[in-house]
Amino acid sequence: MSRKPKASSAAGVGLRLQHIAEVAATRPPAAWLEIHPENFIANPHAAELLDDLATDYPVSVHSVGVSIGSADGVDHRHLRRVKALVDRIDPFLVSGHLAWSTHEGAYLNDLLPLPYDRESLEVLARHVDEVQQALGRPYHVENPSNYLGFAGSTMTETQLLGELVARTGCRLLCDVSNIHVSGINLGYDPYAYVDEMPAEAIGELHLGGFVVEDEDGTPPSQVLIDTHSRPIDDNAWDLYAYALRRFGPRPTLIEWDNELPDFATLLGEAARAEAVAAGVLGESLRHAG
Ligand SMILES: [Fe+2]
Repeated sequence: MSRKPKASSAAGVGLRLQHIAEVAATRPPAAWLEIHPENFIANPHAAELLDDLATDYPVSVHSVGVSIGSADGVDHRHLRRVKALVDRIDPFLVSGHLAWSTHEGAYLNDLLPLPYDRESLEVLARHVDEVQQALGRPYHVENPSNYLGFAGSTMTETQLLGELVARTGCRLLCDVSNIHVSGINLGYDPYAYVDEMPAEAIGELHLGGFVVEDEDGTPPSQVLIDTHSRPIDDNAWDLYAYALRRFGPRPTLIEWDNELPDFATLLGEAARAEAVAAGVLGESLRHAG
């Protein structure tokens, strides 16, 4: 049986290789752990520690290498490796990105965007079907951080995600910080984006730190870069509270991958997320009363 977070708004933290020995030895009070399967597939020692930790902590699997947006198809060899790990640790959720990161067999070291149109929707729907069939469970697709729009796009991101859910029965991972980053970079209202998301399909939220490229600039000259290297920005906390009011409580990940702080700092950010969720829930209850 898959182990689920105890509270529906529990905030988890990423289990990165730098922290795994410490976490295995000290069992810190994290509500749940998120892992990138790519870190464990070729690392038997880390995989062994993970297998043990998965008996104590709920785990969410977030793949950065299953490329549902690649025109030349999903890498089934990689998908089989991810499935083997998923079958072993039985996570409460499996997710990946609305992007492509492979081309003609080569892994590109980034998550690349794609135009939002019928042709992309066909490709994405076919690949999400393949991934869900291979894994034998729902796949959660994450909204990316965007830096440029495609002139040829005929749909908004939320329309594309909504259609993908309707076509494939997939679920969504809503990265709240990415909505803020993309909203500033592309000039749209992040709150309207949250309003347009299909709330019932959302299984997990992300909050990650970003950097401002032009500190003295003001939008539109300012560009936000989704680095996962900083504490969560106040604008993202505000949008998170709004998203919780609209979606209801959801497991939330503090996403920190670069310039990693000590594990206690991650737990501190997770505690803040749970405090925000408790505040929103309290407010909702007061409204209901
Ligand atoms: Fe994310």
